[in-house]
This record gives sequence, structure tokens and C-alpha cells, in this order.
Amino acid sequence: MPEIFINGQPVQAQDDETVLQAALRNGFYIPYFCWHKSLSIHGNCRICGVQPEGKNWVEIACNMPVSEGMRVLTDSDIVREHRKSTLQFITLNHPVDCGICDKAGECTLQDYHYEYNGERSISIEPKVTSTKYVELSSRIVLDNERCILCTRCVRFTREISGSNALGVKQRGDESLVRASEDGAFESDIYSDNVVDLCPVGALLSRSFLQKARVWYLKPTPSVCPGCSRGCSVDLWHRKDEWKLRALDAAQNSSIARVTPRDNPAVNGPWICNKGRDIAQVFERARAELPMLKGKPADLAAAIAAAKQLVAAAKKPAALISSWGSNEELAAFAAALGGRFATFVKADHAAAPGETVEDALLVRADKNPNTGAARALFGDASIGFAEGTDLVLVWGEGFSFAGLPRGAKLIFLNSYLQPENGHADVFVPVSVQTERSGHYTNFAGVVTAFEACFPKAAAVADAEALFAMIAPATGPRG
Ligand code: SF4
Ligand code: SF4
Ligand code: FES
Repeated sequence: MPEIFINGQPVQAQDDETVLQAALRNGFYIPYFCWHKSLSIHGNCRICGVQPEGKNWVEIACNMPVSEGMRVLTDSDIVREHRKSTLQFITLNHPVDCGICDKAGECTLQDYHYEYNGERSISIEPKVTSTKYVELSSRIVLDNERCILCTRCVRFTREISGSNALGVKQRGDESLVRASEDGAFESDIYSDNVVDLCPVGALLSRSFLQKARVWYLKPTPSVCPGCSRGCSVDLWHRKDEWKLRALDAAQNSSIARVTPRDNPAVNGPWICNKGRDIAQVFERARAELPMLKGKPADLAAAIAAAKQLVAAAKKPAALISSWGSNEELAAFAAALGGRFATFVKADHAAAPGETVEDALLVRADKNPNTGAARALFGDASIGFAEGTDLVLVWGEGFSFAGLPRGAKLIFLNSYLQPENGHADVFVPVSVQTERSGHYTNFAGVVTAFEACFPKAAAVADAEALFAMIAPATGPRG
């Protein structure tokens, strides 16, 4: 554990750290563009320069290993002048188009310009123009004029996703990031991470392009339900104070974008593209009308009818949702677990062409909470005993052709599907973005998700519902 001195203050560094890492870990901020904690060091942007004490030059902190007694300054006149001139250099050909750039509000270059430079360009030369709106894939576009050639995106495809899909071609001020011509970037299921990695607005998500200014949005911590990895994510949606009253009010209750929430125990700083697209799952046409044999009913009547069916059943069975939260699963077990024969079902399976499993994040089980459901309800495959007279189906993914003949059906579902109207009792239930809870991932890590939007009045929360449909006598032992 070498002791180093930053601005005269003693700091305990770790053996394999750089000055940049030791500084950040101990509360000394040094700016950086090209360095990233999960990528190799390239040292090309030069903004992280620090002054070795007693010398009249700077060296880059991101590639400076610590050694016992080392002394550096992060805020000297020389360092401040170095940052200023580095920013002048980086912005030499950078367009000042922050007003139309999606990265505005979360752009490191913008922040550093105000913090460390703050002056107009001293260049008298016209800016070198470059290619704009280059389609690197169906998901991502590149503005080369904004690119500062930090190579984070290139290193990501080489070191993390393994697609080797991006590179820099040509030299000097003609350097261009480009995708390989074999289509590897199109098929890189982790490609969208480069949008987060890009410190400027050069790499942009096509689905989010000019959809919202980021300061109108807020991130709600959540969990991607796309597979049993259960990646930690932020779901971005409009802040309450910036709700739209006209124009497109649907934007008030929709997810604008999904980004990774760094969680070393689960996904690190990455997610796959399916997680980015998870809004397409939540925002399918919703079922918001309770029904009795296909006829609209109010929620209280549907709950009362379900309760009667449960009380009358002699041999009930339940198909438990692998998208239920830990809280909902526990509520079912407490209220109804002793009365029903239970089977855990897979609500979702891999879609055609979807990556089933890989070595980075993606898991074969396309449901977020199968493990927790099986821990409570066993892992028997679905099989109805002779005489089953009531089936409660919770969630998607079940073929109703497999129902026992003559059995009554209670169906809890969030989305519009034809079977809703075939059930004796249909109760619409909330989706993950309308409630808070926890999932337990394949490795046993429990992660919380929070509600983003209110649910419709006629939609039930499964956690509360199970106690409401349990007969007054309570569960059979
Ligand atoms: S596109 Fe962005 S991440 Fe890639 S090299 Fe340019 S600035 Fe860096
Ligand atoms: S790896 Fe699984 S949990 Fe993570 S973002 Fe992709 S689909 Fe979602
Ligand atoms: S962060 Fe050190 S050179 Fe770029």
C-alpha cells in the first residue's frame, strides 16, 4: 500500500492503482475522457495531466502507476494551463452545436469546457468538417465532427463485447471511427453501451434521437426482466414538473430510454440491447378492464367472484408467474399457497433469433424471478391432477389448450390477449413499472425496482390481491 501525496495530502494508494484511480477514490477529482475503469488504458486525450511536484511539466494520471512517496499536484497553474490548452485543442474542430445535441446536459466535454476553459476558441482557422449522421447500425448513428477520438467505443467492441466491430481509419484530422464492413456492429447485442461510453455526443441512439432533453427526464432505479441476470437499470421518464399537457401526453407515462445502473454484483456498467428495448414489453396494449366470462365488471365484483371460486374449489391449481416480484410471490404463498397445487411457469421464452445465452451477461432463462418462485413453489413441471376443478393462471406464457376439461379459470394478466375474455374471472394486474419490489437473480442477488408510473384504477396489484381472494378460513395446512 504505497503512500502518495496529492496536493500535499497523504493518500493510501493500492499497489496496482494509477494516480487517477487513487485520486478519484480519495476525493481528488482529475478530469478524464478516454480512461474508463472497465477498459484498457489508451492515454490519448491528455486531459488528465497532473504535475509531478518540483517539475515544470505534466504527465497523464491515467497511465501513471503509483509508487511510494510519489508527489503530484492536480490544481497548480501548470495543470490549469494544460487543461485549458488541451480543451482548446480538443474543441479545435468540434462543432458548437450543443443546442441540438442529445448529449447536452450530460456531456463531459461541455462540463469540462465550463469548468476548466470557459473561453472562446483561439483558432483563426476554419473548422475541419467531417461526416455527419453516419449510420453505424440500425440502432446507432455517428457524428464524426463531435468525435474526440478517445477510442472508448473501439476498445469496448474489442475488449468487452468481442465483436471487434469498430475501428479508427485514416490519420490526423481525417481520422474517422467506422464500423467494420462485415456487419459485426449490427449483430453486436451489446452495441448500445458505446452510446453511454462516448463522452461527447458523437454516438447517438436512433430510438432516442431528438426525443427529449435529458433535463426533462429522471431515472428510476429498476431491474431488467429480460433474463435471469436481472441487470440493474435506470428507466428514464419525464419529471413530474415537466409533464406535457398538450402535444403528446402519452410521453408522460412512457419510458424514454433505458441505461445501465452500475452494479458490480450483477452487470457491472453494461446491459444488452434487449434491456434497452424493454419498454416495448411494458408498453404493449394493456388490459385495464376486469371481466366475468368476457363481460366487463368492476374490480370489486371480479375480486368477489374470484374469491367465491377459490372458496368453492376442491382441487385448485395455480400457475405462478416467473415475473412476480419476491413480495408478490410471498403474498401468494402466505394467502393461497397451502390451498393450491402450484407450478412455476416460464412467462417468456427466447424470441426467434434472440441470443439464448452468452459468456458476458445474457442468460437462457428469459424471466427475472424463476429462482425465487421455485424456492417457494417447487420445480415440478406443469401437470394437472385428475379432478382439478379450478386453475389460477398468473401472467403470460401458458397455452390455454392445456387446461383440464371443465375446470374454472381465474386469469391475472397485464396485457390484451384473447384468452382474457375466456376466463371465468379476469383481473388485470399491474406491470413492473407501476409498482416497487425485488427480484432475485440466477445467482441469488436480490435487487430492488421502483415504480415509475401510477396504475389505472381498475388494475389490481397482485401483492394485495392474493389476500383479497383467499377464503376467510385462510390457507389449508
Ligand atoms: S465516437 Fe465517442 S467514444 Fe468513439 S472515439 Fe469518438 S468520442 Fe470516443
Ligand atoms: S442481460 Fe438479461 S437482464 Fe441484462 S439487460 Fe440483457 S436481457 Fe436484461
Ligand atoms: S484520461 Fe488520461 S489521457 Fe485520457
